[in-house]
Amino acid sequence: MILLQQQFSLKQFNTFGIETFAEYFTELHSANDINEIATLPYKKYILGGGSNILLCTNINGIVIHNAIKGITITKEDTKYVWLNVMAGEIWHDLVLYTIDKGWGGLENLALIPGTVGAAPIQNIGAYGAEVKNVIDSVCCWHWEEKKWITLSNSDCHFGYRDSIFKNSLKDKTLVCSVVFKLKKQPDFNITYNILGNELKNRAIKELSVKAIADAVIHIRTQKLPNPKEIGNAGSFFKNPTIALSQYIALQKQFSDIPHYPIDTDHVKIPAGWLIEQCGFKGYITGHTGVHKNQALVLVNYGNATGYEIIELAEKICSTIKNKFGILLEMEVQVWK
Ligand code: EPU
Repeated sequence: MILLQQQFSLKQFNTFGIETFAEYFTELHSANDINEIATLPYKKYILGGGSNILLCTNINGIVIHNAIKGITITKEDTKYVWLNVMAGEIWHDLVLYTIDKGWGGLENLALIPGTVGAAPIQNIGAYGAEVKNVIDSVCCWHWEEKKWITLSNSDCHFGYRDSIFKNSLKDKTLVCSVVFKLKKQPDFNITYNILGNELKNRAIKELSVKAIADAVIHIRTQKLPNPKEIGNAGSFFKNPTIALSQYIALQKQFSDIPHYPIDTDHVKIPAGWLIEQCGFKGYITGHTGVHKNQALVLVNYGNATGYEIIELAEKICSTIKNKFGILLEMEVQVWK
């Protein structure tokens, strides 16, 4: 039997720490609870760790906090282990669990805030790795079809911070569990410069998943604000992809513009660099601002509203459009 709460404050349930209210709120502790919730005639909003959302208004409908826990090995062979993980598990706890076992695949993704259920939705990524590389399948409840569906990795249409769950299945499903396929003999991905340099500085004798995760945790702790201290949702914008021809033209004017090749015709530009070049790094306005160590992160210094943060984001976007001709896209999902 689920507990339905009314006029529920969401302040503790979003890492931006913004106060808005849900008309109804409930917490899921077992997959069976879904059958009961499915019969309720309210619009449904699914909340994991609340680390990638921006709340702008009160929510008319039911906010469902997925807290279903459990990690089980479903299959293994000499090379791989398949782990079925329930959506309410804390992402970083899962990473630590796999590192303790010595399994490879999640080490570069250490300390990302949020829950396991949110990981496939935006295909979380960091330091040269993306979760799509280790997802075998995703099991969800389909609200309209009123049935369980299992999507294979290719069914999920993963892209950069993107998946089917942000497109044709947007608001249509509740991710209940994810199967990860992890390597028993890990191969290491340390091509991302910042990570490679950190490992060099540490003079690691023997590379391991633990050594990589420790380095990632150190880098993230230095650069990214802890949401428990300053409200934020990690990267606010995606790193934009532009045509190679546009990059070459920009390089004539801004010779040190960083870029990562995507394919023969496109490159990705770090949005943090663009924002910093426009003088916004460390900028504060009212209760909001741009973090002083990582310009891609917008922060709530006090009692900011979602609209104040949107206003700052719009100001940043228009300044960058004017200076570089590049349109930034938000990574954070806005609830309004
Ligand atoms: N940069 C600046 N100024 C800044 C920040 C970055 O100039 O204030 C430039 C520098 O050239 C730097 C480059 O951007 O070398 C890359 O910076 P960083 O390694 O910090 O990564 P990012 O591109 O800013 C992305 C992800 C992060 C992820 C890191 C590490 C996106 C939108 N963000 O940021 O993900 O942790 O790479 O892999 O792709 C998140 O999604 O919430 C997140 C934090």
